[in-house]
Amino acid sequence: MAAPVPTYHGIPAVGLGCWMGHVGGAEEAYTMVREALKLGYRHIDTAFGYGNEEAVGRAIRDSGIPRSELFVTTKLTNGHHHRVVEGFENSIKNLGIGYVDLYLMHWPCAADDEGKDLTKADGRDFVQVWKEMEQLLQTHAGQVKHIGISNFSIQNLEVLLPQCSVTPFANQVEVNPYHPQIPLKAYCESKGIQIIAYGPLGQTRRTFLKDPEVIAVAKKYDISPAQVCISWSVQRGTIPIPKSSNPERLKQNITLTTLAEEDFQKIENLHKQPGKHRSSDMMTLMVPGSVWGWTMEEMGW
Ligand code: A2P
Repeated sequence: MAAPVPTYHGIPAVGLGCWMGHVGGAEEAYTMVREALKLGYRHIDTAFGYGNEEAVGRAIRDSGIPRSELFVTTKLTNGHHHRVVEGFENSIKNLGIGYVDLYLMHWPCAADDEGKDLTKADGRDFVQVWKEMEQLLQTHAGQVKHIGISNFSIQNLEVLLPQCSVTPFANQVEVNPYHPQIPLKAYCESKGIQIIAYGPLGQTRRTFLKDPEVIAVAKKYDISPAQVCISWSVQRGTIPIPKSSNPERLKQNITLTTLAEEDFQKIENLHKQPGKHRSSDMMTLMVPGSVWGWTMEEMGW
């Protein structure tokens, strides 16, 4: 029987990711968000850098669902690290939904308008950016409920946390069965930081959806491999934000199953098998001197 979607820290524990696999895709994003809201999604995740905030906001407004029933996240792009207020105000204007529930620093690194890395080696940059984001809670109270971070490693957090007045509400990072982020998850939990899981289906790679063990668990419950991965993620306390432009898959992705402990553990431990651990996630691929330090191939494009 389908399990209801819980909330963690007040966030619906399954969201809709609006990264379309490329920048833009505004009308596709509009249709996807309208459909998702009809199907019961109440957590929508976008970013300035996705190029579709306007369409996402329009879909939310057109849905007629009271704003208070929704949890909406957007993100400060790297090119706005040195103009946080401007970046935030752009997003608020693009979305046109009054306020955001969660505003994330998209990456710990800054870039100029051409994508050139402006990050300071000692992490000073993201600490300064965070302090300006903290200010938004005062200067733009009513337009932002919570602030958080994305793509922050333990190393980044060790620099940031001692200098924070406000602990990040959430850290959005890549999490899936081949990349369960066990140390980062434990670290964030110990600090009260909620993990939000992007790429829960492997984005365009989706290799683990073909994993024989995932398929076996899916068969046992008569659900899809994607549903196994999403249910596992929710069950371990990380909030997946799968993207789908397909109504049938959208519906699947919000229909949860409670896995028995032995099946849960099978998925939790998959990454220990040879060849099943993806250590080269986007965070670790960020090399000094290059903001976009991964190749298109590594991104699966
Ligand atoms: P589509 O939009 O055609 O459904 P992630 O959420 O990890 O970024 O992955 C998104 C990718 O996974 C998209 O290519 C999406 O394609 C695909 N996808 C979404 N839901 C499912 C599902 N239930 N089963 C298989 N693939 C899915």
